[in-house]
Amino acid sequence: MINEKDYKYKVTAAGRVNIIGEHVDYCGGRVFPAALSLCNTVYVRPNGTDKINLSWTTLTDKVTLNINDLEKSRSLKYGNYQAGSALMWKNAGHRLVGCDMLQECIVPFGSGLSSSAAIEVSTIAALATVAGEKFNPVEVSRLAQRAEQDFAGVNCGIMDQYSSACGKKGHAMLLDCKTLACEYVPVNLGEYSLIITNCNKPHSLIESKYNERRAETEQALSIIQSYEKVSCLADVTKERFEGLSKYLPAKIADRAKHVIEECARVRSAEYAMKQGDMVALGQLLNESHNSLKVLYEVTGKELDCLAEAAQAFDGCVGSRMTGGGFGGCTISIVKTQAVQDFKKYVYERYQKQTAYTPSFYEADISDGITVTKL
Ligand code: GLA
Repeated sequence: MINEKDYKYKVTAAGRVNIIGEHVDYCGGRVFPAALSLCNTVYVRPNGTDKINLSWTTLTDKVTLNINDLEKSRSLKYGNYQAGSALMWKNAGHRLVGCDMLQECIVPFGSGLSSSAAIEVSTIAALATVAGEKFNPVEVSRLAQRAEQDFAGVNCGIMDQYSSACGKKGHAMLLDCKTLACEYVPVNLGEYSLIITNCNKPHSLIESKYNERRAETEQALSIIQSYEKVSCLADVTKERFEGLSKYLPAKIADRAKHVIEECARVRSAEYAMKQGDMVALGQLLNESHNSLKVLYEVTGKELDCLAEAAQAFDGCVGSRMTGGGFGGCTISIVKTQAVQDFKKYVYERYQKQTAYTPSFYEADISDGITVTKL
């Protein structure tokens, strides 16, 4: 049991789900994520030393970080994300003070729902708060992204950390990853619900495959730039790409085609969401999944099976993988009155066709960072 009164602040940051716009954030594209009530919570109090004492509600391990030598804590089994986050905050010129931190993560690990971003963002917000500093959530998200890149070795885009820090209850974010301009769009699904399903396949090698995809898109851009003046792949139109794809090696062309078409789907999804047209939105989800499967090759048997089972269900208008892929979750838009039948249908099919059983999450669309004085 946590005795909240033992701590001075309770700081949370959200996991996220991405409705559409997958693997486009690091190509300057627009994404459409929302923050979830599944979050990481940090209970924190100053301790008057130069140490950060970390503990977790779910682990017996305890880890101490020295705030003057955080580099030494690189590659810790537990505490690596926190060490990276503290170092980035400090290197950006902010005050770091010794403190005791108790962490509790209810974002399932390896689910593609950004548990790592929730940990990084909440840790930075907690360190700022306990040092008496005001923080800017956008800066926090940028520093958290750097921690992920530098300490976890994933050359990620900004989507996860931005959503975790800047999410807003009941709203999705149309985030332009080139400019960080963000429009909050109310999520009104009418008679439908958004169902998150975990394929529960432990993902392996995700970091290296993710970094490989990112490098492939960079290769595509640099070839295209020798023919066309563009600053990012997301700025290449579908029409222009038709004339340019012949200059790219076949696989690289497939990767670029996914990015360019996915950006167009985000534009259509924005319209569908604003019109409340769930059937159109669902169709875009299906197309997105297919592109991630065929052109981008980040789905795998389990996610395909899960999405295809959902798509075959009568009351489901669309389903796709969400997040980085290679395991993790799908999202499905399902008639609210058919949700129980949907779960049963997908569960049975998925279990029959794979070695895993799925889990379903009930999560609300929530705020990004919250800070409570205890
Ligand atoms: C991971 C990364 C994000 C984004 C998604 C794919 O979640 O952290 O930056 O690239 O994959 O859309």
